[in-house]
Amino acid sequence: MSATARKSAPLPDDIRAMKGGTPIVSLTAYTTPMAQMMDAHCDFVLVGDSVGMVLHGLPSTLGVTMDMMVMHGKAVARGLTSAMMVIDMPFGSYEEGPEQAFRNAARLMAETAAGAVKLEGGVAMADTIAFLVARGIPVMAHIGLTPQSINTLGGYKVQGRGDAGATLMADAKAVAEAGAFAVVLEKVPENLANDITGTVDIPTIGIGASAGCDGQILVVDDMLGLFTAFKAKFVKRYAELGVDGEAAIAAYAEDVRARRFPGPEHVFGDAVPGAKT
Ligand code: KIV
Repeated sequence: MSATARKSAPLPDDIRAMKGGTPIVSLTAYTTPMAQMMDAHCDFVLVGDSVGMVLHGLPSTLGVTMDMMVMHGKAVARGLTSAMMVIDMPFGSYEEGPEQAFRNAARLMAETAAGAVKLEGGVAMADTIAFLVARGIPVMAHIGLTPQSINTLGGYKVQGRGDAGATLMADAKAVAEAGAFAVVLEKVPENLANDITGTVDIPTIGIGASAGCDGQILVVDDMLGLFTAFKAKFVKRYAELGVDGEAAIAAYAEDVRARRFPGPEHVFGDAVPGAKT
């Protein structure tokens, strides 16, 4: 899949234009089949660095590499025709400065069919966001609980409570002014998420934020019940595929041990089909 193969997907400006309208629908995806399943239902699909935890068993997102993002980005792109694809910049690929960020964002855009990159950080990342946008790379910002900063945030806590709300508001304004076309608000109090949504002129995409945000995103493995290591309060489970999958595997194992599988319908006779006998 080349970076120009998908023609019908919305552009970042189309997502920006959805501010204040019908809520923007988004999920993460890491593989082609999962992307195919959500393509018709989502406005954009995020190849999140959560891939490290949900697919690779890493303890956090910090071990995710550029090569992993490129590989999963290519896989997701093969499954999308109508949803826009956004791809996460992994930890260590952009924080050094705008030039490093441009180099790695350009690689992600060139080697996958992503329409935009996402990076974590507010005021501290504003110059980098402006640098990328000025050079043709649409940026989605991500503030609040930023999992790549877990070691300085001291855990996966709610961000922006009390006086810290002003800092988060400043972060939201800074990324909007820098040219981000949307901003993810992760794990922030509902009132603050509503205030930010009413203040900035770009869509807010909530995860553990508020139904008043301009859109919502969830990690797909969380909402399908495939990731069961823990469940955050903000996750709504729409299926229990982990439980159902394990039950199916147990049934298969029993069938094999009892010689019930394969059955007559799964095996081949030795007559050549269509041959005259
Ligand atoms: O990596 C990810 O999945 C994310 C979402 C939780 C927003 O950044």
